[in-house]
Amino acid sequence: MGIDLDRFPLAILPTPLVRAHRLEARVAGPPIYIKRDDLTGFAGAGHKARPLEFIVGAALAEGCDVLVTGGGPGSNFCPAAAAAAAAAGIGCELVIYGDEPTHAHPSLALARACGANVRWTGDPDRARVDIAVVQVAIDLEAAGRRPYAVPRGGAVAVGTVGMVVAAQELAGQLDDAGVEPEVVVIASGSGTTCAGLAVGTSLSGTGWRVLGASVSRPPDDANEEIAALASSCATLLGVESGPFELVDARGPGFARPSDAGERAAATALRTEGLLLDPVYTAKAFAVVLDLVERGRTGPIVFWHTGGILSAAAHL
Ligand SMILES: Cc1ncc(COP(=O)(O)O)c(C=O)c1O
Repeated sequence: MGIDLDRFPLAILPTPLVRAHRLEARVAGPPIYIKRDDLTGFAGAGHKARPLEFIVGAALAEGCDVLVTGGGPGSNFCPAAAAAAAAAGIGCELVIYGDEPTHAHPSLALARACGANVRWTGDPDRARVDIAVVQVAIDLEAAGRRPYAVPRGGAVAVGTVGMVVAAQELAGQLDDAGVEPEVVVIASGSGTTCAGLAVGTSLSGTGWRVLGASVSRPPDDANEEIAALASSCATLLGVESGPFELVDARGPGFARPSDAGERAAATALRTEGLLLDPVYTAKAFAVVLDLVERGRTGPIVFWHTGGILSAAAHL
């Protein structure tokens, strides 16, 4: 299905789908494929370039002149949004939770280098960011700007569409390779990725399970919000939503490395040269290794969503 929405191109697509032979041999597992969205080729944004193509497309179509969003000090979405706004010739205002640390995380340094203006909530509560984003947009509008506001992670229907398109891309690649995976594993934070894959998988008519490794919230908490996001995205496209599952991959908590994630990252790096970040991709890859340990025999796709700056900062 072609998607008739405004889109501002950022990523180099399709990203490669590669088979991880050395990893398979190391873990004595089933066929494992890696969807290399760490290679989207736009400002180290990883898969976040995908939702931003549609978010920036919508912002430009509405005549907006500043993108307003936010996240944590190590957010990957924030620098990606800042770079996308710069590439589109509009401003970027970021709201970050907590207080400004002495040393900026490389992600935030990149966002600033892209020209984004950064504000701090002074409150560790992550959810406060989305409220502050709305307020900043109201203030900017009152000052004569035309803001386009999106919550953390780009969790809006139009952003979710980016991952619907991604699922269709994967379906085409798997079809060409004659592979029918049992499960596609991805890291899930705001849920935009998981929601888009759920819709895109159902739209592609493929039978794989979408398994989100929930890294920031308990699955029961995240489930309802992701289902609502998938449903609003499906409505926007005039299609049916699809199923997804979540597994708890938080370990000691959001943005705190887990032992399983650390082991998984070392395995990925030493077998396939894959650089995984401790917040998202390492924890999701630990879920893949857990599936293998539990004796899964069907092909598995691991969606490498990026996080390169956090990965490098953690080495
Ligand atoms: C590297 C990486 N992977 C996965 C995710 C999760 O994506 P989502 O917020 O769409 O659930 C993020 C979110 O920031 C991320 O930075």
